[in-house]
Amino acid sequence: MAFRTLDSLGDVSGKRVLVRVDLNVPMDNGRVTDDTRLRATVPTIGELADKGAVVLVLAHFGRPKGERVADMSLQQVIDPLAAVLGRPVKFIDDMCGAAAEAAVAALAPGEVAVLENSRFHSGEEKNDPALADAVAKLGDIYVNDAFSAAHRAHVTTEGLAHRLPAYAGRSMQTELEALEAALGTPQRPVAAVVGGAKVSTKLDVLKHLVSKVDHLIIGGGMANTFLAARGVDVGKSLCEHDLTATALEILDAADAADCTVHLPYDVVVAKEFRANPPIRTVNVHEVAPDEMILDVGPAAVEALGDALKTCRTLVWNGPMGAFEIAPFDAATVALARTAAALTKGGALVSVAGGGDTVAALNHAGVADDFSFVSTAGGAFLEWMEGRELPGVKALQI
Ligand code: 3PG
Ligand code: MG
Repeated sequence: MAFRTLDSLGDVSGKRVLVRVDLNVPMDNGRVTDDTRLRATVPTIGELADKGAVVLVLAHFGRPKGERVADMSLQQVIDPLAAVLGRPVKFIDDMCGAAAEAAVAALAPGEVAVLENSRFHSGEEKNDPALADAVAKLGDIYVNDAFSAAHRAHVTTEGLAHRLPAYAGRSMQTELEALEAALGTPQRPVAAVVGGAKVSTKLDVLKHLVSKVDHLIIGGGMANTFLAARGVDVGKSLCEHDLTATALEILDAADAADCTVHLPYDVVVAKEFRANPPIRTVNVHEVAPDEMILDVGPAAVEALGDALKTCRTLVWNGPMGAFEIAPFDAATVALARTAAALTKGGALVSVAGGGDTVAALNHAGVADDFSFVSTAGGAFLEWMEGRELPGVKALQI
């Protein structure tokens, strides 16, 4: 996988650089509740501005579906972004058109401006060539620094790469290098932890991973579907019984590929899903009809830790149990801490990402100890499915 980085950019002083970032941050009452994605923009925007480029920031916010929706304006992230960047940020209220062109022309080298929500144009998500041409007129160079939007073939994530000299930004570069180290050309043995509620949302991930990794550790509600497929009575646990045949196919494919699948053999069960209900820790064959499995048990967690100790690389997506509610966070926390300690000791390269995963690792207090934690949700999953991401493919040389 080869792509141009900012290292090959040459002199950008006075050049207009369109930089696609991900400003789709969670907000509550006008406040950014997690600024991880804002911080991810700092290396690229800072470097370009310091080199005297006119930095034109492109991004989407929410899903306005081609309409101007006031509470999805990128205006609301200007101040938080400026604070994180430690430099002033201007706002231009459209990403193309005569007024935007005039506003861009008035910017001085080294200045940073955010252009209004790309999804206010219906052509954005259609990757409309006319819109792409109109946006491309504003810049001399295109930099994509939004891995988390790279699974979208939109004007600002894909179309522009065909119209201007295209480069991967620093965060995109870091992300692609980490992912390559994890599943592209990893040090073996490789383990994958796949958790979360439902098998149905991660079927393609599981199918792809069995041919790629040496150990597949399945946790969360989705483990129940596999246990049930193997004839275990999972009581009233969350379980997709209609996926029994699929689960068996995945287990067969793993066998054929010499991939060891780890399912829990002890589990934590309760009759109700709420904080701190009465619980039992039992062998998977001892779940009562009125009980549900809510976490992997301590004996299984210890065995999983031992398996990780034999591995050199780990890819992690999804929690091991219902980690939002105590005490069902125990397995996720314990296994994450083992992975973090192995990583810190230099024995393991650990890459994590996708939806709940970052929250789970933050909860375990170990996100900083993993080798790399992706800010991407859907894009990370599609990458774990072995799919080519259009935004990444367009950068390839
Ligand atoms: C995300 O929040 O996962 C990315 O910004 C992509 O957003 P989307 O799922 O609305 O395309
Ligand atoms: Mg999303």
